[in-house]
Amino acid sequence: MCGIIGCVAEEPVADILLEGLKRVEYRGYDSAGMATISGRRLGVRKGVGRVSEIEERKKMSEMSGSTGMAHTRWATHGGVTDENAHPHASCRETVAVIHNGIIENYIPLKKGLQAKGHRFKSETDTEVISHLVEDEYKRTKDPLKATVAAVKKLKGQYAIVVLFQDRSDVMTGARKDAPLIVGVGKNKTFLASDVLAFIGQTDRTIFLDNLEAVEITKDRVKIVGPDGKAVSREPTQVAWELSDVSKSAFAHYTLKEINEQPKTVLSASVQDKAKVERFAQAIRKAKSVYITASGTSYHAGLLMKFRLNKEAKIRTDVVVAGELKEHTEFMGDGSVVVAFSQSGETADVMEAVKEAKKHGAKVYSIVNAVGSSLARESDEVLLLNCGPEVGVAATKSFTSQVVVANIVVDAVLGKKRSNGYKELSEAVAEALKCEAEVLELVRLYMGRPDFYFVARGYESPVALEGALKLKELSYIHAEGMPASELKHGTLALIEDGTPVVIINPSGPNHAESLSNAEELKARGADLIGISDEEDEVYKHFIHVPKVQPKFAPIVEAVPLQLLAYHMSVARSNNPDYPRNLAKSVTVK
Ligand code: F6R
Repeated sequence: MCGIIGCVAEEPVADILLEGLKRVEYRGYDSAGMATISGRRLGVRKGVGRVSEIEERKKMSEMSGSTGMAHTRWATHGGVTDENAHPHASCRETVAVIHNGIIENYIPLKKGLQAKGHRFKSETDTEVISHLVEDEYKRTKDPLKATVAAVKKLKGQYAIVVLFQDRSDVMTGARKDAPLIVGVGKNKTFLASDVLAFIGQTDRTIFLDNLEAVEITKDRVKIVGPDGKAVSREPTQVAWELSDVSKSAFAHYTLKEINEQPKTVLSASVQDKAKVERFAQAIRKAKSVYITASGTSYHAGLLMKFRLNKEAKIRTDVVVAGELKEHTEFMGDGSVVVAFSQSGETADVMEAVKEAKKHGAKVYSIVNAVGSSLARESDEVLLLNCGPEVGVAATKSFTSQVVVANIVVDAVLGKKRSNGYKELSEAVAEALKCEAEVLELVRLYMGRPDFYFVARGYESPVALEGALKLKELSYIHAEGMPASELKHGTLALIEDGTPVVIINPSGPNHAESLSNAEELKARGADLIGISDEEDEVYKHFIHVPKVQPKFAPIVEAVPLQLLAYHMSVARSNNPDYPRNLAKSVTVK
């Protein structure tokens, strides 16, 4: 969940690090810090707050040195304090470490180190790594060997970068179940948690495999595997353009990403036919099919399941990734697990996939981040092609997931590739034109404590998605559910003026949903209809264009995303960085 960047260069690195830090801030944003080596001095500046606030106070950009690293934190162990912010220096300040992940055995390690005389300054699990490397460096005098020896003692997950006070020419790193990649530039080399950190400097990337460690200089990369043997790997070119990671003319990344969707549904529709066919074949032939994902990606998975069941007649279980290990009784050779993930780094998804493989299942994934852990662990990967998603709330990645899921289901059904994507893109552009209606809803309901979202059938996951988006961006309590479930309890909470969003496209469930709408209205609810067909039961109505039923969730999601976004802004939240959350959830 934390963001990491390190750089060894010929020139001063503070500005490069600060720029990269801002780009990975979406990964964690409760505190941040930077360390550089200048001459034989280790400098550390860090504190609580957003990167720009810390820069204001501590002037990280003025740190000298051509080797340095920086970190944005999403707290796990230890409160949000200046001391707990990374980097963490060892007691003699010979070593400093930044870390993403959780060290499960840090308490016994800390006790052992304290018994040897090490003094700790923070409450974090991370600090044990600095002290361990310090000891190993004293013994081995070799940065890479010291790093490898130290991480061997760790249990848990880590991506770390290490600076050595007497070696201004090198930096080391290591990873286990958390992302760490190398950026290869001209006379500068990077270690980072994702490509966005250095994309302005280079697009040549080496993806480190799990349990590998690395030492970089400004023009050399040395990788070692878990067996200690050297690994040779050429850089690959990553395609994400710098322009994709700026806010352009938009106030927030989230708004930019919502508005990109007419384009991104099209790019998601461009898929390699042979890969799609292999994906479809695997599902068709599987003895059992599972879909697994978390959060918004799980909602995309629910939509895929619906079509696989109903149209392809393939029995499919959808299990939240963090729970998959509890649902493996019938999993085995011949099972296929389809994993959805924007980041490809979600710890729950990675654990689910490992568990699935342990049971003999094949893993097919639908991922946005090229070269991510999930992409590399999977037997086959389809990419979302929607470019980097920086806003913490998943928006364009969700609609892209629905596009790719539909392409796969169509292939399972043996349908020729549908060419309705241009129309879909136009419909999404049309759906975006509801800003006036959305702003009116925000004006009327921004003070309400609760919102409800209901729908039926294929649309039910859209209700879940609408509620999740509103919760995470506006901090208003929201619940989503099938409309049929209301009468089994939730109706008791409906009173005069309770806003209820009802997603109700024309089609087989339309009339029944209208009956539920009447029941809600009779109990005082203010109904907000989202549909291609208006009805007088709704107090407010947002029209979305009529599209093929399989694409309806895509156009319906757009006003829900805008509602959550504008509600967030109106309530003075930062929609790009909702409290307590992080974009890439790399802890379990
Ligand atoms: C909600 C949201 C999260 C993610 C979830 C899975 O807007 O962003 O619920 O969908 O954390 O993340 P990925 O798709 O990266 O595995």
